Amino acid sequence: MSQKLFRLTLLFVVLAMLMAMFGACGGSKTTTEAPAATEAPAATEAAAPAEAATPAEEATPAEEATPAEEATPAEEATPAEAAAPAEGDNLVGIVLPTRDEPRWLQDQARFEELLGTAGVPVQILFSQGDSAIERTNVESLITQGAKVIILTPQDGTAAAAAAQLARDAGAKVISYDRLILDTDAVDYYVTFDSVAVGEAQGQFLADRAEGEGNPLYLYAGAATDNNAFLFFQGAWNVLQPKIADGTFVIKNSSEAVALQDKAELTHEEMANIIGQVTTNWDFNTAKSLAEANLTAATAEDKGDVFILAPNDGTARSIADVFAADADVSSYLVTGQDAEIASVQYIIDGKQSMTVLKDTRVLAADAIAAATTFLDGGTPEETTTYNNGVIDVPAKPSEVVTVTKDNVKEAIIDSGYWPASDFTGLE
Ligand code: BGC
Repeated sequence: MSQKLFRLTLLFVVLAMLMAMFGACGGSKTTTEAPAATEAPAATEAAAPAEAATPAEEATPAEEATPAEEATPAEEATPAEAAAPAEGDNLVGIVLPTRDEPRWLQDQARFEELLGTAGVPVQILFSQGDSAIERTNVESLITQGAKVIILTPQDGTAAAAAAQLARDAGAKVISYDRLILDTDAVDYYVTFDSVAVGEAQGQFLADRAEGEGNPLYLYAGAATDNNAFLFFQGAWNVLQPKIADGTFVIKNSSEAVALQDKAELTHEEMANIIGQVTTNWDFNTAKSLAEANLTAATAEDKGDVFILAPNDGTARSIADVFAADADVSSYLVTGQDAEIASVQYIIDGKQSMTVLKDTRVLAADAIAAATTFLDGGTPEETTTYNNGVIDVPAKPSEVVTVTKDNVKEAIIDSGYWPASDFTGLE
């Protein structure tokens, strides 16, 4: 056999082996719409218990999901998908922060609803609250040839490196819901008006406080999430004048008390308050913190209380703790995300409000921006958000306050969730 023929034969054998490998793995590992669809059953299973469950139970699916589901995307993506063929040309990679919160399962489901119409292959990976997994997910998507990465950073600053990797590989980076910070490697930001979310929460409490000395308990999101600052800033805009005039008395943050006469807080001042009242977006942390706050409080610090809770998951945890305290005669508690479990809490009078951030709109905006980039265009910009390095072009969406009074109209009639998901709807 000539050397040339030998090389050709060898090449043929290697190719045949590679094709055989693809045949074996292809069902779950090609980069067409299949992987996203493959992810779907897992997500659907996860979504069911999480949404239906009480906060305490919600921690369970999260833990269950951890070893198998989380490690998988990053690891499984590399060998097979790296070699995947031309479908990667238009691939849109989506990296969401965690399966452990119903909020992000909502986004996953909305993206999957769009798959049929998106016209491009999409793959969704989860980072499970870990910036290292997030980075591996981005690397995996880049290796598969993703031309657009839609990323919700676990930690806004830590995600800068992953965004830079995508930029270096020639992919466009869309920050999804949370802003990627301290890098110029962000091309667009799809978001809601997060300051308006905080203002809606603050306004709800302010509108219901009469007289003076109403006990106010403040809670915030994770300090690694830029949104936590925007939500708090919005709430402070509305609550601070009512704290300064004595309508509210802050009961659980000495830092907030020290700053209560200041209308506009610096980032550092907010960080000091958030440092004391952070839930870290974690249901169990929220529960423990609320318990600690009520243990430290006197009976006079309780009574009819007002609670700023940053989102639905933490609101349910905090609400359960306040509801169980004999010295709390009534409580009002805010939230956001219109999670199914919280809509049920609102119907049942256990949570006072939520802010609907329509994930159908957000996912559609993200896919529209991605396809615009793929076509060589520039997505619509109505404002910019400074991420510490650049002003990132963005088009924030409106939010809607949902209470028991408008829950049917805002949630059911709008088609956001079906009536069959709830009991006790009038
Ligand atoms: C999102 C919220 C979500 C929270 C916790 C925020 O960045 O805007 O909708 O509840 O993260 O995941």
